[in-house]
Amino acid sequence: MTKVLVLKSSMMGEQSQTNQLIEQLLKQRAEHGFQDDVITHDLTTLNLPVLNADIFHALRGVENDSQQIQKIVQLSDQLIAELKQADLLLIGAPMYNLNVPTQLKNWFDLVVRARHTFRYTETYPQGLVDGVNAIVVSSRGGVHLGQATDAVSPYLTSVLGLIGIHNVEFVYAEGMDIPPLRENALKAAHTQILKLAV
Ligand SMILES: Cc1cc2nc3c(=O)[nH]c(=O)nc-3n(C[C@H](O)[C@H](O)[C@H](O)COP(=O)(O)O)c2cc1C
Repeated sequence: MTKVLVLKSSMMGEQSQTNQLIEQLLKQRAEHGFQDDVITHDLTTLNLPVLNADIFHALRGVENDSQQIQKIVQLSDQLIAELKQADLLLIGAPMYNLNVPTQLKNWFDLVVRARHTFRYTETYPQGLVDGVNAIVVSSRGGVHLGQATDAVSPYLTSVLGLIGIHNVEFVYAEGMDIPPLRENALKAAHTQILKLAV
């Protein structure tokens, strides 16, 4: 049994390329005999709170009487527990304005938490999430890979690394808004997904 935590962040629902590619990957894994126990969050409907100073301090352990803030700390605890229990983190990360969708950033802002998912050392912080591999599916209207315009890949590589997730595979579908590139890019993404599902 593999525990899979799926984070979808496209606002396009079933039309979304990243959502469709994620479903394809889960289907292929099932066809190849994986017994996945899947938790899926569509972050666009989860309404995660946006980080502010009160939330930040409470997440760092400062007492706060507000029930609303306490609920947010509990939510963060729950999201972190789900992540730590997972074997595989599957992230849909379409490029929005060169970066990840806001809702995905909001998830990281609740989950990247000192003493819970990383700890400070004398040099670089050390991740506290063990044994979780990640696959990121990222589609883009244009072509950005390896260029300064791609803030998605370096951000996700770094933030996942910060919390201890170093084994990260990226599946790209670039050029979705460029008709001559689209079909081949989708084919390549599907081929990569087939390879990842064995
Ligand atoms: C709000 C918004 C912002 C976008 N910004 C970019 C961008 O900066 N660069 C780019 O190449 N494509 C951009 N796109 C195109 C998407 O990355 C592309 O359509 C992608 O396939 C969306 O993935 P999805 O189908 O899973 O939502 C943007 C799309 C939307 C809706």
